[in-house]
Amino acid sequence: MYICICNAIRENELRTAARRCPRDVDGVYASLGKRPQCGQCLDDAAEILIEEREMAQETAYAA
Ligand code: FES
Repeated sequence: MYICICNAIRENELRTAARRCPRDVDGVYASLGKRPQCGQCLDDAAEILIEEREMAQETAYAA
């Protein structure tokens, strides 16, 4: 599923980038060589970054 239509960023691509790049949405998009355009995806993208980082923390605590 595409999260960002303007940049053709898929959800799984964004989740992988969120684990590699500890920055905000703009920073994570930049790590993919993209930048926000219309801005309609930003709230959803920010939620995905939070979700992905929370899951990474839970995994780290469980280990
Ligand atoms: S949908 Fe992401 S910038 Fe337009």
